[in-house]
Amino acid sequence: MRILVTGGCGFIGSAVVRLAIARGHEIINLDALTYAGRPENVASVADSPLYRFEHADLRDRPALDRIIAAHAPDAIMHLAAESHVDRSIDGPLDFVETNVTGTCNLLEAARTHWQAQGRPDSFRFHHISTDEVYGSLGATGLFTEDTPYDPRSPYSASKAASDHLVRAWHETYGLPVVLTNCSNNYGPFQFPEKLIPKVILNGLAGRPIPVYGRGENVRDWLYVEDHAEALLLALEKGQVGRSYNIGGHNERRNIDLVHTICDLLDDRRPRAAGPHRDLVEFVADRPGHDARYAIDPARIQRELDWQPSVSVEEGLARTLDWFLNNDEWWHPLLAEGGVETRVGLGG
Ligand SMILES: NC(=O)c1ccc[n+]([C@@H]2O[C@H](COP(=O)([O-])OP(=O)(O)OC[C@H]3O[C@@H](n4cnc5c(N)ncnc54)[C@H](O)[C@@H]3O)[C@@H](O)[C@H]2O)c1
Repeated sequence: MRILVTGGCGFIGSAVVRLAIARGHEIINLDALTYAGRPENVASVADSPLYRFEHADLRDRPALDRIIAAHAPDAIMHLAAESHVDRSIDGPLDFVETNVTGTCNLLEAARTHWQAQGRPDSFRFHHISTDEVYGSLGATGLFTEDTPYDPRSPYSASKAASDHLVRAWHETYGLPVVLTNCSNNYGPFQFPEKLIPKVILNGLAGRPIPVYGRGENVRDWLYVEDHAEALLLALEKGQVGRSYNIGGHNERRNIDLVHTICDLLDDRRPRAAGPHRDLVEFVADRPGHDARYAIDPARIQRELDWQPSVSVEEGLARTLDWFLNNDEWWHPLLAEGGVETRVGLGG
């Protein structure tokens, strides 16, 4: 299949690009190379004859039309987005422009191409989204595909808006779409502003490890390569117009997750000054911090026969080892705002 992937230089997009090329798909990677888009993330496949790169911004509709017409993809996997909740608190408009207007531009460019091709049933627009659109859970319950949307941050509101647009383009114009909503991802190449890489890198440097509030917030964690597998499956076998929740029944309180990473660090890089848990520092909570997310992945398991293959303990160990072996990747990123400095405290 010839697949146009947006955001293929980001964390999850690059995992999709690497896996799709290994499976023999032709990939056109469209990316604006924001602070989160790193060409190094796809260096292992950049020389493949199956790989092409297009430097373009979702906000530039003529560029999208030109690129889609030039490559005539069989499918679009749309991952490009502004993705960090803390940044969305400081700069919400960037999130609306890329995640909402940008998605609308891409839908229109895809519709133009699809109609020009004679509206083939086999075409797919696969929109990649998050469980954060469902809002926040109490101590019990799980998000299903029928849970009403209730986004609470500028990030999740912009993703929810983009999900609605994708469904509208299916209902109104018949564009063959598939949607997926996934829980928190972690793994190699994750930008160090996010929780797990931040804990690893602060722990390695002996710096305080910041934990928001009391660390009671619960997230449902999925290893990024399991997500990439699920995405290719949903693209190839998902039913048109349908949504699939993706998660691995791996709920952890943030503080427990941080302690697990600290223990792994003690094992691999013991600290003369004491265990890494001593570095944990509770800091002011994120404004509007959702209490709990948890995915019910029954539909994708039952209908598409998908199962995650990596437990959190194994995935965290693999992730830590990757960061230990790839300091040339993360070292230059430490100077980026939001990595060693705090953003998103609100005004
Ligand atoms: N990270 C998670 O835990 C998670 C969980 C569920 C869903 N998602 C969704 O998966 C997708 C990918 O997330 P990620 O964590 O890999 O994000 P990321 O921030 O690591 O990467 C985003 C990519 O999009 C590109 N991009 C941003 N704005 C663009 C624009 N205007 N035009 C073109 N390219 C642009 C960036 O350059 C970067 O390569 C997002 O849509 C996100 O909402 C993420």
